[in-house]
Amino acid sequence: MHGESLQHSLAVLLFQGDGSFWMPPKGSTTAAEVDWLFYFIFWVSMFFFTLIVTLMVVFLVRYRRRPGREEADELPHHNLALELVWSIIPLGLVVVIFWVGFQAYLNMSTAPPNAYEIRVTGMKWQWLFTYPNGWADSELHAPKGVPIKLTMTSEDVIHSLYIPDFRLKKDVVPGRYTSAWFQADEVGEHNLFCAEYCGKEHSSMLSRVIIQEPEDYLAWLENAAAFYDELPPVEAGAEMLKKYGCVQCHHVDSTASTGPPLNDLFGREEQLAGSQTITVDENYVRQSILEPDAEIVRGYQNVMPTFQGKIKDKEIDWIIAYLKDISSHYEQPELLLGTPEAEAGEAAEATEPAVEAGVDEVPPETSADGGEGVGDE
Ligand code: CUA
Repeated sequence: MHGESLQHSLAVLLFQGDGSFWMPPKGSTTAAEVDWLFYFIFWVSMFFFTLIVTLMVVFLVRYRRRPGREEADELPHHNLALELVWSIIPLGLVVVIFWVGFQAYLNMSTAPPNAYEIRVTGMKWQWLFTYPNGWADSELHAPKGVPIKLTMTSEDVIHSLYIPDFRLKKDVVPGRYTSAWFQADEVGEHNLFCAEYCGKEHSSMLSRVIIQEPEDYLAWLENAAAFYDELPPVEAGAEMLKKYGCVQCHHVDSTASTGPPLNDLFGREEQLAGSQTITVDENYVRQSILEPDAEIVRGYQNVMPTFQGKIKDKEIDWIIAYLKDISSHYEQPELLLGTPEAEAGEAAEATEPAVEAGVDEVPPETSADGGEGVGDE
């Protein structure tokens, strides 16, 4: 049992199977090239490391100083054959490494002309993927078997898009576009990281790549845009806070993070950096999303990126609805609280204890009538 698991570990460690000790499973069409080169360099290094260390130990033991052994009169200083061998072999090896590496690099840098384009925005601390129909999402969905070109830029500082399974890593730089491409031939999910230290929440700048059958992808894309329209505004608002990464910096449990907490925010009095006080209302929320540097709450830094041009007005409305819902400083006016059905339901609940108390003679219909009666009053 122990032997078997050791054997298995060794196999994982040494062989180039799909997902080894060294490399995650290959998720893209370029992964094989990268892995080939990695293992080539790895095994060449292992071979020479072993050769050199073994020779070193052998020579140490064999030529150690011993009584009765004199130093050579003349030290060897030239051996043309040996010098040619140890120059030509490494030259051949580095030429192979350069040739294969440069080819793989060119393949990875040049997207096929028919590639399907998805735009990527990096920001503190969230990825946003914008699809050809304008839908923006925090996860990267893509159809399988199609080359996907990512056109990437950053809102603030340098981030780096990193998808280990695809062997893909590329800097995402403010003020310019960089691009990368991949093709995944299997349906599945892959991790996506930020690989450039970009501040406090760098390590939580995570996302997923979801590779789907082309028809599933198209169906997802069509539904995604309509999905939130069908949710109640409060729920859609909660989803928007996740989609736009707000919750990375704004907690909803009253604890301060990079930004002020969002619960009990709506209607709250906030001290601004400039010593005036404001009451958080719809306009302050909207302004804070679109021009975050306009009015900073005291005690916080001006680090929030703008969502101008990314967030839609209706999405801001949903966020406002959600913020109202989670604030104790905001009360929905009583009049608008309950629909007629809700009132009838409450009334019916109110009569239930009487039934439970053992008033068996009261038939259920009467109880229901009573409920309606209360509702009518
Ligand atoms: Cu973005 Cu690290």
